Amino acid sequence: MTSSNLDAIARKMVAAGKGILAADESTGTIGKRLDGIGVSNSEDNRRAYRELLFTTAGAGDFISGVILYDETIRQNASDGTPFTKVLESQGTLPGIKVDQSVFPLAGATDYPITEGLDGLRGRCEEYAKLGARFTKWRAVIKIVGGYTPDIAIEANAHALARYAAIAQEAGLVPIVEPEVLMDGDHTIEVCQDVTERTLAQVYEQLFRHNVRLEGTVLKPNMVVAGSTCPQQPGIDEVTDRTLEALRRHVPGAVPGIAFLSGGQSEAEATAHLNAMNAKGPNPWELTFSYGRALQQSALQAWKGSAANVAAAQRAFKHRARMNSLARTGAYTAQHERELAA
Ligand code: 13P
Repeated sequence: MTSSNLDAIARKMVAAGKGILAADESTGTIGKRLDGIGVSNSEDNRRAYRELLFTTAGAGDFISGVILYDETIRQNASDGTPFTKVLESQGTLPGIKVDQSVFPLAGATDYPITEGLDGLRGRCEEYAKLGARFTKWRAVIKIVGGYTPDIAIEANAHALARYAAIAQEAGLVPIVEPEVLMDGDHTIEVCQDVTERTLAQVYEQLFRHNVRLEGTVLKPNMVVAGSTCPQQPGIDEVTDRTLEALRRHVPGAVPGIAFLSGGQSEAEATAHLNAMNAKGPNPWELTFSYGRALQQSALQAWKGSAANVAAAQRAFKHRARMNSLARTGAYTAQHERELAA
């Protein structure tokens, strides 16, 4: 794999009009989503749900890549076609989550550290053989009582850079995901400060580890207030503060930024992305890599019943299309009503 191949994959991930579906929920996390619609967390149900998403006709017009989980990348559609091939036939790149979850950081146990560097080289090589073209590692930065210590940021940024270098060595584009959590009652000012400190450390570490930025995609949080903060900002403030933080710390060599939704509603996540693109031009593509904000309506429509698959696929494709419109600032409330019509 040459660096130009890596760069081409990264650019394809953030291609015009498209974004990424995060369908890499761990078995525990997808269990919570299925529980929410009264469906048991069996391998069969997990597989059926992912098949519904991946076989949605025309979704490839809006979805450039799908992040899979270890179980999912090894599964097949009901006609026996491997999911990786199903995605490729839609023109969609298969990707894979390679971190091994979050643990209390020794020495600062109120704060999380993402683990999974041991054996990562071998796992990346195997995933590349299974058809993955890109990877994801999620670092979680928590704000506790309005405060995040440097060590929590530095340890996570270091692990992100080690991961990104290893993924590139295996020919896989790393999605670099430092997520400052929305949990808590902190203000948007605190979120901006912690987000800026995090991005500064992440790019320092990526530089020190010789990661080729042209062959990466950043997946950050938006700058928002804590979910229980009494002062909730409007779209303009979220947009301005997010763009300010990103412009200060993300080099122009990065081809694209694909936001996580992090607990925002589907409509909020779309409206924020739309406003950020409307305020462009920006130095990088600005797109989505949503999990919940692409799947909530589809899950509600499905409820585990084969009879509801078509309705769930309509809901998923609608959400994907709304976010595609938000890539150019063209999304309106009128578009949102089109599904019902
Ligand atoms: P959310 O959009 O639900 O935050 O999920 C994106 C993701 O992949 C988090 O790691």
